[in-house]
Amino acid sequence: MIESIKRFVGGENKTRQNKEELLAAIKRAPLPKHVAIITDGNGRWAKKRGLPRTAGHAAGMKRVRETIRAADELGIQVLTFYSFSTENWKRPKDEVDYLMKLPIEFLKTDLQELIDRNVKVQMLGEKSQTPSQTQMALTEFEEKTKHNTGLILNFAINYGSRDEIVRAVRQIIDEVKKGNIDKDEVNEEVISRHLLTRGLPDPDLVIRTSGELRISNFLLWQLAYSELWFTDTLWPDFTPELFYQAIEDFQHRSRRYGAV
Ligand code: IPE
Ligand code: IPE
Ligand code: MG
Repeated sequence: MIESIKRFVGGENKTRQNKEELLAAIKRAPLPKHVAIITDGNGRWAKKRGLPRTAGHAAGMKRVRETIRAADELGIQVLTFYSFSTENWKRPKDEVDYLMKLPIEFLKTDLQELIDRNVKVQMLGEKSQTPSQTQMALTEFEEKTKHNTGLILNFAINYGSRDEIVRAVRQIIDEVKKGNIDKDEVNEEVISRHLLTRGLPDPDLVIRTSGELRISNFLLWQLAYSELWFTDTLWPDFTPELFYQAIEDFQHRSRRYGAV
């Protein structure tokens, strides 16, 4: 791998390995407000072990739980997981069925802890296109946590950024037609307000596991100035230490937003 890419894979700052040292270091600097994670590599993790891909998704769910705890304990404001894309419907039916059952499982095992942690759970993506049991679980998460005031936890499920933008454009056209807004008043703020992330800060830090160096139709508008952090680690091997490492690397980046 060429040196310039390698620098971004696996974290740039490998000097601090110790979890406590890392934690102490990141608590001294401003935290990212919004961390978004592309949790990739479940299938390859399973394949390496001679297991079905679904075993990778089950193992990945444990890492989701651990990462939520780590983010909550740090005091991160918004955490977003890319859990199922609009393109993931192309996968074999048994894998899709399994992935659609995971939120039902997660509801049973984790809802109470999320309530206790004052976490507010929200979904990004068209729930109505998921199986009815899945929809019910997703709605229950949102309903039972909607008054919570702690960590905002988004799950992007049946999410595609281009689809999100198309829907936003249609809504804005409707509003212009109705005369609620003038065409010349359509600006970046208006577009942001029509996206599924309305009201949320744009991600400061995006983490992608599994060594793939791409965005895969995730939050295209919102990522305009996000810091990207890639690791070769497969999602079921992702640890809180790596999460802290990503944050520490983020804290050493210089965000210029086009200025000098
Ligand atoms: C991420 O892992 C989970 C989902 C996309 C649902 P993958 O299932 O994409 O795992 P790989 O990339 O095939 O290893
Ligand atoms: C991205 O992973 C989507 C999720 C993690 C849900 P994919 O595995 O679907 O992405 P590609 O196919 O490698 O781009
Ligand atoms: Mg993948």
